[in-house]
Amino acid sequence: MEEIRIEDTQSVCPSEPASEYILEVRNLKKYFPIEKNLFGKPTRYLKAVDDISFKIEKGTAIGVVGESGCGKTTLGRTILKLYEADGGEIFFEGRNLNGISKKEMRKLRTEMQLIFQDPYSSLPPRMTIGNIIAEAVRVHRIVPAEDVTSYVRDIMKKCGLQPQHYDRYPHEFSGGQRQRICIARALAVNPKLVICDEPVSALDVSIQAQIINLLKELQNNLGLTYVFISHDLSVVKYITDRILVMYLGNMMEYGDTKALFANPLHPYTQALFSAVPIPDPDVKMQRIILEGDIPSPASPPRGCKFHTRCSKCMKVCKYLQPEYVEAEEGHFVSCHLYNPTVMDDLSKYDEEYDRLTEEEERRKEDEKKKGKARIRR
Ligand SMILES: Nc1ncnc2c1ncn2[C@@H]1O[C@H](COP(=O)(O)OP(=O)(O)OP(=O)(O)O)[C@@H](O)[C@H]1O
Ligand code: SF4
Ligand SMILES: [Mg+2]
Repeated sequence: MEEIRIEDTQSVCPSEPASEYILEVRNLKKYFPIEKNLFGKPTRYLKAVDDISFKIEKGTAIGVVGESGCGKTTLGRTILKLYEADGGEIFFEGRNLNGISKKEMRKLRTEMQLIFQDPYSSLPPRMTIGNIIAEAVRVHRIVPAEDVTSYVRDIMKKCGLQPQHYDRYPHEFSGGQRQRICIARALAVNPKLVICDEPVSALDVSIQAQIINLLKELQNNLGLTYVFISHDLSVVKYITDRILVMYLGNMMEYGDTKALFANPLHPYTQALFSAVPIPDPDVKMQRIILEGDIPSPASPPRGCKFHTRCSKCMKVCKYLQPEYVEAEEGHFVSCHLYNPTVMDDLSKYDEEYDRLTEEEERRKEDEKKKGKARIRR
């Protein structure tokens, strides 16, 4: 059984002081126990977020992309401390969130808000929208009690809701309007950082554009910072400044949105981005189809987790996990192809692979012989 080993590896963005950034995540890990022994001690873990590092400047947006199950939501929830991290550090405005008290965290929660994917289930059905939005305003005493109603009506207006809807219930609204209510509820407590987890994926395409434009407008007007989780790369391209590409809990590529779209380096990013439509009839799309299914996150492949689906897979990829390499300034990639230490000495790594394979075959052969001997006895 696999033993859990949580150790800090080198951060990919160690240079500048943390306080320049509203959020800095260093080597963050969230492992879910999936098997326990008789005494209830976890013996196997699913590494939903495994060694993720990035940082965001105030007023900018980072996109988190990757296939379903790669750990995007878990990353968002761990940043907000809705899940306790199993390793790594989170700095919010330069302050390390490790070890801060529950009381302090409650205060910080107003500054870090979450907008969910599903606007249908995230609103309490028996409360009017005015009360839904006002609830946290009252609890956190954002404005004096006598000003709450006018404050809420003002926020509703900013989010494209009519103030006369104050006394209506969630079921009286469409999906797009409900997502506006969720946005208004998140913004009512004056957050600095908003984690948007697939905020438009449950909505019609026409409504999606309205909500994205609203989020962008609010960001410009209020100086908000976003962590924007999405499957939709066209949306991510439009709204974010930086992108983090995840695969099976690991970070595959990280850099400026423009640089990533102009020159995706990782074979996984290249495949993902090849599916984004190009609004030019003269440009032919060259879609890269990924072979095979995404492996189970509970037992990911050895070496590079992407190697079972990578068309550029080499022997070294099958046993050695790639390091993060700064391939271009501020553009990080986790792939041996960009690591000169590996690529300049590839034959050595090939030989090592052959040696390991032979060793493994010998071990299997020995086990088979032992098994047969046991049966004969
Ligand atoms: N509470 C939990 N307990 C155990 N495993 C979990 C838990 N939450 C998530 N997981 C597992 O962690 C992995 C990452 O899940 P997560 O929800 O973060 O993925 P995601 O990238 O947000 O996927 P999607 O795009 O479908 O929303 C998945 O394999 C999931 O099954
Ligand atoms: S390390 Fe190897 S398998 Fe992984 S993405 Fe790079 S080339 Fe492909
Ligand atoms: Mg998710």
